[in-house]
Amino acid sequence: MADLDTRTDTGDAPLDGVLVTDREHWVDGPPHALFTEMRARCPVHWTASITDFPQEAGFWSVTRADDVHTVSRDWQTYSSASGFTAVSDSLMPLELIQAMFIGMDPPKHDRVKGLFQRGFTPRRIAAHEDDIRAITRGVLDRLEGRDRCDLVTDVAQPVVSRVIGSFMGLPPEDDEIWARLMNTTLGAGDPDVNPEGPETVMARDVPEIFRRCQELIAARRAQPTDDLLSVLVHAEIDGERLEEHEIVMGFFLLMAAGNDSTKATYCSGMRAIMEDEEQRALLLDDPALIPDAVEEALRMFPAFAHFRRTATRDAELGGRRIRAGDKVVMWYASTNRDETRYEDADRFDLRRRAEHQAFGAGGRHFCLGTALARLELRVLIEETLARHPHIALDGEPRYVESPFVNQLKTLPVRLP
Ligand code: HEM
Repeated sequence: MADLDTRTDTGDAPLDGVLVTDREHWVDGPPHALFTEMRARCPVHWTASITDFPQEAGFWSVTRADDVHTVSRDWQTYSSASGFTAVSDSLMPLELIQAMFIGMDPPKHDRVKGLFQRGFTPRRIAAHEDDIRAITRGVLDRLEGRDRCDLVTDVAQPVVSRVIGSFMGLPPEDDEIWARLMNTTLGAGDPDVNPEGPETVMARDVPEIFRRCQELIAARRAQPTDDLLSVLVHAEIDGERLEEHEIVMGFFLLMAAGNDSTKATYCSGMRAIMEDEEQRALLLDDPALIPDAVEEALRMFPAFAHFRRTATRDAELGGRRIRAGDKVVMWYASTNRDETRYEDADRFDLRRRAEHQAFGAGGRHFCLGTALARLELRVLIEETLARHPHIALDGEPRYVESPFVNQLKTLPVRLP
């Protein structure tokens, strides 16, 4: 491996010195122009530091779909057990990250995930369609008589919160509290979402999550229920019950994944439909095309811009030498627009019917919630367009400032 490019700070390699996760690149969503340049000139790129978190190690960016596929599938070389986002080391202690199955490697990962897989198959999830539709209609009913709203806060958030809340056995009156806790922990760096700064995640939000969750756990210990939290409370892995912090963090993972992702994709997808009358007309003429619009929204606007692995041994990737211990970031926001896979990749076109990596790239950590997400997104778009076919943008949508969650924090619309 002697003649491979290793990481450098010398200014010799293309795009040397670019710090990909730095705030300046993320004020208005993912830096697509930068990713295009990276895919062309330096598809495996070294970021030496993270300005907002100076104690945090640098990382490799993997920007092409084929390379991400390689990393995702090779869990022996690219481990999930040392943090799953580029900056997670500074936000949460490793012990908590490793208590979520997204922060584990096989075999434990497979055993904990296996507790839930049967409940998340497309067939089992399809049984929830009527409930999800009723939740969505109930939320849209609340807008009757209004000629304006914000699709993020008035539609997406209450729907996704109630859907995941019902899976977890939470009372509807707590939905807003849990939504706040998930938004501040995942969008920690955005000054609007979390005005007091990312330190509050460990100082304030995580203790509140633990306190609230411990009450829910105690109730389920006393009386088992048929929700997903009860599955965690009563699970046995290799003959042992999960520890309390593992139950809390398992709950957190499901809540966070269910809360942020679907909300993000629905809003970005609706924005694209509102911005393109041809696409809107296709859907209004034939609502059976909505699943294709869902897939195209997933491709263009992956709800998580990246996930990360850590190299367990030296490896070669895209002509660069990765060293044991290096962080390796898979940029789905880039790979889903990889020009070797998609023609005119920046254009939203539901007729494309293309595969994508929004749910991961085929590895062990492939999203558990794909069937639920697809169902929620289809129902949300169906019901929104049926009720408000001429829904239109009403002001500038704004992104959460984050290199991890790829989502709008505001999407003002008119309801003509
Ligand atoms: C638009 C919606 C969604 C998107 C784009 C999405 C995307 C992802 C991605 C990219 C990963 C990580 C893949 C990897 O690192 O290899 C993931 C993992 C996961 N997702 Fe989703 N997700 C969505 C909805 C959901 C929903 C509704 C749930 C429901 C609970 C969910 C639960 C999970 C869980 C538990 C994991 C961890 C899986 C593991 O570590 O094995 N997701 N998701």
